[in-house]
Amino acid sequence: MVGFLREVALVIEFDPEHSTFHLKGNSSSYLLALSPSRDPQLLHWGAALGDGDVVQLARLWRTKAGDPLLEKLRRDYASFGNNDLRSPALHLEHPDGSRISAFTYLEHEITAGKSVPHGLPGTLVEPGDKAATLRLRLVDGLRAQQLDLYYTLYPEMDILVRRAVIKQMKGTGCIQKIMSASVDFPVAARPYWSVSLPGDWARERMVQKAELKQGLVRAEGRRGSQFHDMSPFLAVSQGPPAEDSGPVWSFALVYSGNWLIEAETHPSGRLRINAGINDFDFKWRLDEGESFDAPECVLAFASGGLGAMSRNLHDFVRGRVCRGPWRDRDRPVLLNSWEGLHFGFKHEDIVALAAEGKALGAELLVLDDGWFGKRDDDRTSLGDWVEDVRKLPQGIRGLSRDIHALGLKFGLWFEPESVSPDSELFRKHPGWGLTLAGRPGSTHRTQHVLDMSRAEVRDHLFERLSHTIEDAGLDYIKWDMNRPLWELGSDAWPAGRQSELSHRFILGTYELMGRLRDRYPEVLVEGCAGGGGRFDLGMLCYQPQFWASDNTDALDRVLIQWGGSLFLPAVSVGAHISGIPNQLTGRSTPMRLRALVAMSANLGIELDPSTLSRQDKNELATALARYKEIRRLVRLGDLYRLEDPFAGPRSAWSIVAKDKSEAVVFVVQPLASLPGLDPRPLRLAGLDPAADYRISDLDQTWSGAALMAGCLLPDLGKGDYAGAMVRLIRR
Ligand code: GLA
Repeated sequence: MVGFLREVALVIEFDPEHSTFHLKGNSSSYLLALSPSRDPQLLHWGAALGDGDVVQLARLWRTKAGDPLLEKLRRDYASFGNNDLRSPALHLEHPDGSRISAFTYLEHEITAGKSVPHGLPGTLVEPGDKAATLRLRLVDGLRAQQLDLYYTLYPEMDILVRRAVIKQMKGTGCIQKIMSASVDFPVAARPYWSVSLPGDWARERMVQKAELKQGLVRAEGRRGSQFHDMSPFLAVSQGPPAEDSGPVWSFALVYSGNWLIEAETHPSGRLRINAGINDFDFKWRLDEGESFDAPECVLAFASGGLGAMSRNLHDFVRGRVCRGPWRDRDRPVLLNSWEGLHFGFKHEDIVALAAEGKALGAELLVLDDGWFGKRDDDRTSLGDWVEDVRKLPQGIRGLSRDIHALGLKFGLWFEPESVSPDSELFRKHPGWGLTLAGRPGSTHRTQHVLDMSRAEVRDHLFERLSHTIEDAGLDYIKWDMNRPLWELGSDAWPAGRQSELSHRFILGTYELMGRLRDRYPEVLVEGCAGGGGRFDLGMLCYQPQFWASDNTDALDRVLIQWGGSLFLPAVSVGAHISGIPNQLTGRSTPMRLRALVAMSANLGIELDPSTLSRQDKNELATALARYKEIRRLVRLGDLYRLEDPFAGPRSAWSIVAKDKSEAVVFVVQPLASLPGLDPRPLRLAGLDPAADYRISDLDQTWSGAALMAGCLLPDLGKGDYAGAMVRLIRR
């Protein structure tokens, strides 16, 4: 015990002489200090500091720390209401109606491990982790509110998880804005750049790099459950970001409601990043004695560019965000019925599909939309989670029995948070829709959203899903969500609390997901939101994998998966081999290409195998067998992004085992090169330079050093839509 406490003291050090808190990561430092007026200020977040550097920094800082103009200072969590008009981390309304706050340090505590925010998902600490938490307690000058700031350091991964809790001590107040983390960066030698992940439905997470010029840039989600247009992640670099060099800082929210990551560049060149719940259409009333927990935000620092940052985040997300028995297991190769059969199937079609899938090597049959109510198209029956006996006369139980008898696992599609106006559920409970009486509310895909803030709605859904899980012995659920949150209103809450609904919706959804996860830990849940519209660290706490996009075109998927890989590990990304021509793009790419793009993530199949040529069937079966050989490596290895598809005519990436004993390299070249040009070699990364690697596909052996110097010439064959997968095994 003493030893453990000593470790805590080692990773977070408080120096009473200089009033500094040093959070010491293996390769990073986060250094906070208390100003003479007890305002927490940030002295440094970046490369690791020595003890002498800390003292030196503290001495230099002390000469400026008392500047009466707060706007000049690097404040660690600025509240609104003084001479700092940069966008604040906290904006409160007090019982007297004023919005002026001035929080100052009261006390602190440093403990091993961490706590999680109330009602929200939180990251894990595993036995053996040296994670420790600093809690700073601040109090407002009028003593009506107390603010707790939490900083959990995972030193091995150079990850810092931050969150904030505000407590109303006197009277009734109101939160207008509360961030999870706020960081003031100093003026840098080169202007700051941001990397964000904008997009749209079927083209999620397109990488956007932009110089941050003077002013405020908001990366945000306002749609409540559909964030195709932006993922809750932002990275910052000094000058244009590089893949393999230079310092990078990043922010990723553990939150699936309306979110905000804003970057404000001050006229001086200083940069403030705030990350938390979006203040758009948000206001939260706090009565005396009540607390409000902001979600967690994961902060990562790496000095080796975007690649190093992503590898740290991947380790963290797959080990400390994802949880449950499936976190540490190879995921089954699934065959999903959607693109192959859509709504038109009968019991025997699904059994035949499963048998074909089994022969190819699939391990799980997923019956997608259309199995319940009277759902022959997408205009009806959401909410009626009872099998359609016209299609499934033996019920879900009978279908499950037949699928299991083939030696496959069995899963079903649900969209629990939505309801069709044309459904038994909505006719019985019209008040369960998330819109106020007197307002019709828009539909999207002819559906409304259920009021997940109501306990009775959640209890009903828990009962329905539990019944089907147990009745059918489900092994898997695809949890979809296809409508943005518009026109929010709920009779369950008084007038003064209507602007709390977008947050209450996600709190309710999390509560239901958590209850199901805890009751049925063996059921593998895959998230989906019209493709990858809600693919974030909050969802990954309940669903260890997510359907990355409705776009299954192999070339588009390279871009979508590349963007996601900035913060999402490959094992969390659902990637399916689908039929041609592609249903969205009309493009016909060869099986080889479709397979290798899916093999570099969590592979599945989404087509009707009976429509395939014999050659495609053989190629698909071979691809599945090869995938099973590498899936553990894909799940646990380190990703190296080698050639950027957003920048060049070719793209390449590799996954290298942690012990460098093997690697797999993927190359995609959309268009054939011009005749006469020599093939371009590929420079690998992350290998052991001194080791020899055998490349059986090419019958060659090279040293890691030679491979990293660029001696590999992948065999891409001739023609457009070329691709290759190359395996390297250390000799
Ligand atoms: C959404 C999902 C698809 C599929 C359909 C079914 O669009 O993203 O994968 O499940 O719903 O309606």
